[in-house]
Amino acid sequence: SMVRHYKFNVVMKNSTKLCSTKPIVTVNGQFPGPTLVAREDDTVLVKVVNHVKYNLSIHWHGIRQLRTGWADGPAYITQCPIQPGQNFVYNFTITGQRGTLLWHAHILWLRATVHGAIVILPKRGVPYPFPTPHKEKVILLGEWWKSDVESVINEATKSGVAPNVSDAHTINGHPGPVTACSSLGGYNLSVQPGKTYMLRIINAALNEELFFKIAGHQLTVVEVDATYVKPFKVDTIVIAPGQTTNVLVTANRGSGKYLVAASPFMDAPIAVDNVTATATLHYSGTLASITTTLTVPPAKNATAVATSFTNALRSLNSIKYPARVPLKIDHSLFFTIGLGINPCATCKNGSRVVADINNVTFVMPKIALLQAHVFNISGVFTDDFPANPPTPFNYTGTQPTNFQTENGTKLYRLGYNNTVQLVLQDTGMLTPENHPVHLHGFNFFEVGRGVGNFDPNKDPKKFNLVDPVERNTIGVPAGGWTAIRFIADNPGVWFMHCHLEIHTTWGLKMAFVVDNGKGPNESVLPPPPDLPKC
Ligand code: C2O
Repeated sequence: SMVRHYKFNVVMKNSTKLCSTKPIVTVNGQFPGPTLVAREDDTVLVKVVNHVKYNLSIHWHGIRQLRTGWADGPAYITQCPIQPGQNFVYNFTITGQRGTLLWHAHILWLRATVHGAIVILPKRGVPYPFPTPHKEKVILLGEWWKSDVESVINEATKSGVAPNVSDAHTINGHPGPVTACSSLGGYNLSVQPGKTYMLRIINAALNEELFFKIAGHQLTVVEVDATYVKPFKVDTIVIAPGQTTNVLVTANRGSGKYLVAASPFMDAPIAVDNVTATATLHYSGTLASITTTLTVPPAKNATAVATSFTNALRSLNSIKYPARVPLKIDHSLFFTIGLGINPCATCKNGSRVVADINNVTFVMPKIALLQAHVFNISGVFTDDFPANPPTPFNYTGTQPTNFQTENGTKLYRLGYNNTVQLVLQDTGMLTPENHPVHLHGFNFFEVGRGVGNFDPNKDPKKFNLVDPVERNTIGVPAGGWTAIRFIADNPGVWFMHCHLEIHTTWGLKMAFVVDNGKGPNESVLPPPPDLPKC
């Protein structure tokens, strides 16, 4: 293993897309940002220097951060932000993980433009559990707003109503030829006939799940969220913000150009950006124009396409990469997730849209929770987050009359190495929606999912405890539920939230506090000396 040094200069840079130019926040002037490459077991040091006017922090999404929560990055959860003119070195070791992840800003809506890929190669000499691809390419999917993203969310927060949706989706920074004026052609994926490529696909969009497909080519899924899966072939993958998917694609069509498409998946009846981003797969040495009629992306409400993809995911569960599903459960939790409405005197309609978990709308603290936990600073959070919703109702049926949620900075406390089963139940409070829920600090196994209300008597009998998919971000189906299991083997404070940024802003978030164990290697390491102060 080795130590890898990166420097992230956070600077403004003008960018032109969809016929208009605006300054955006970038790392090293790049959009998408630089790819961070390391091997399993390497230590990574990233010096982040803040040259912009915003407070800043960066999250290494999916990196376990064993005992190094200080480097996790969510502002006010594990660290105070890096202020303008300041810097901070994120220092972490990659343990027991290999595959694709992403890094992104974790404050305000800066991750719209401040994001990039993390490529974790296996240890030297260790092959992939599938044929070695000829080449690997990062495919970063994103969203683009013509207006300033921070103003979009500031205005929405003030008015209490939903913000504007983006103006385009992007593939490696380009919308593709969706309008007369967009960056011509878009991203070009050049391939040689007969060769197999691995695409490391990342959804870095703020607010939209996406379908991804390539005309005339099947995709073999081999990994999600940096864990290997049993390979399977599909035409279309579905990928939520924060998720990553590695696929193999064989250039078996001989010649020509084929359209690549990233289109929205949204099964809720609310406004979405309908614009499909496109790119081109191009057989090198051939000049033909697009030979296949374009790939027809699934309808934006093609729930069946998404469900069949999700249902096909299984852990590889080989001798080398076993699925260690917890079988005995210490904490059985049931969390409802959804939207609500709270009074707001200064808002447009006298009320504001909020989001909640178990009816608690999370209030961000003024001091980072990890500091409050490690240094016993009282008054920052309480550890009374409810294990169940306060008033059970028919989650997916008749709406309750009272939409109001409770505000609080409540955490759920876990002992070191406790095992957890967590059922996440979407509610139809305002509208059923697919929520991609991300847990920091852990991978979890998805042991079951279903539509409608979770049935505690029947559904657990159908759980897959053998080879369930292992992930860090899970799409809870609209009007349905998902059950996950994990082991609290990482002491610290770990954020859990919907990875649709608007829902996080509205309060669909909470955190677990995991106590230190008694053993010599079972406590949070001391904070780095340059940890930013609030
Ligand atoms: Cu990818 Cu808490 O985020």
